[in-house]
Amino acid sequence: MRTQVVIIGAGPSGLLLGQLLFKAGIDAVIIERQSPDYVLGRIRAGVLEQVCVDLLDEAGVGTRMHAEGLVHGGFEMLFKGARHRIDLQRLTGGKTVMVYGQTEVTRDLMQARTEAGLSTVYSASSVSVHDFASKNPVVRYQIDGPQGSKMQHELQCDFIAGCDGFYGVCRSSVPEQAVAHYEKIYPFGWLGILADVPPVSDELIYANTERGFALCSMRSESRSRYYVQCNLNDKVEQWSDDAFWDELRKRLDPPAREQLVTGPSIEKSIAPLRSFVAEPMRFGSMFLAGDAAHIVPPTGAKGLNLAASDVKYLSSALIEHYREKSDAGIDRYSERCLRRVWKAERFSWWFTSLMHRFPDTAGFGQKVQEAELDYLIHSQAASLSLAENYVGLPLDFGDR
Ligand code: FAD
Ligand code: PHB
Repeated sequence: MRTQVVIIGAGPSGLLLGQLLFKAGIDAVIIERQSPDYVLGRIRAGVLEQVCVDLLDEAGVGTRMHAEGLVHGGFEMLFKGARHRIDLQRLTGGKTVMVYGQTEVTRDLMQARTEAGLSTVYSASSVSVHDFASKNPVVRYQIDGPQGSKMQHELQCDFIAGCDGFYGVCRSSVPEQAVAHYEKIYPFGWLGILADVPPVSDELIYANTERGFALCSMRSESRSRYYVQCNLNDKVEQWSDDAFWDELRKRLDPPAREQLVTGPSIEKSIAPLRSFVAEPMRFGSMFLAGDAAHIVPPTGAKGLNLAASDVKYLSSALIEHYREKSDAGIDRYSERCLRRVWKAERFSWWFTSLMHRFPDTAGFGQKVQEAELDYLIHSQAASLSLAENYVGLPLDFGDR
């Protein structure tokens, strides 16, 4: 079988790319290792930048997001027991973010594929990519056949899009000498809980406390998402719901503590924090996009948004290739993405460093962190820098 583009991975990157290519009349097949339910069960991002919102609109999947998503014009920073508002809208000349869960984005994209009559290959095993140094790459995979048998499939294509996340097969199939890795592992994780309780506040609260970082986020007016910084070797089974709520409460200010409504968790998980970039993001006929190429710690809410901007650059490049017979976009893909990626890496690393307790920086490092927080809320320049990065830099930032 032959198609124009094979997309590996049906997370937000793969599904969004599939939708944008479909709208442009380009044939694409998506191959996903997990089942649809498994993909929808992963609770992750919650904050979308305007660039990402615009792209979902362009893909024709924005209706429910606009109806049910929450537009936020600011967030709060809590430290030394007091809250300070970062007025995103005022600082950035009217820009906002959209609070709408990654699960819902994924569900909308899946629904759009179904409505368009496009199918996705789910539960594929032994997915492998071949010959991407040539113009005729090949993807092989297996799906379950009758009575426990496996059916082998092969797809020939013009391009492979590696949208298969950090642990995917595409990046790991690239010869070692052809790719450089840059990585930073943080000495803590985030324990997250999702619960059907009203959020503690109308806006997100990022808290730097003596007991560690905490984040109060939400998915809707009746569903909350909370995180606390935890030890890297903590196991989620060690954390009962009560233990989580007790710890969160201790990291809040008195008014929030009073407002906090607790309830049984719907989901509870621990995520390690990592910064990672693979360079380049193109290898002949194969491109990496989203978490397959880079990871940011979640503090700046940039992961999904970066995945969306990669997909924007990649879909434009592929459309240009097929419509205008020009490879200019393809040739610039990696450089364009990485320029944006590194700015988001910088911001996420900085915001993570500012908001967490680091085991090894009790003295000087701690004092510098306190000074920076104080500077941040009292300096218009520093608040603006935080705000313009948080709402997301424009897609063509630095081009002019
Ligand atoms: P993924 O979502 O990882 O999807 C990759 C897909 O490929 C998966 O479905 C996987 O099953 C599939 N796959 C893997 N290997 C194979 C294979 N061999 N063959 C076929 N398929 C394969 N980002 C934000 O922007 N804002 C936030 O607020 C935010 N909060 C976060 C909070 C947490 C706790 C975490 C963990 C992440 C957060 N992120 C956030 C990051 C965001 O979730 C990711 O950046 C995003 O999921 C990346 O999408 P992706 O499609 O590139 O990768
Ligand atoms: C979330 O709601 O999951 C979320 C929000 C903001 C972040 C990270 C995660 O910075």
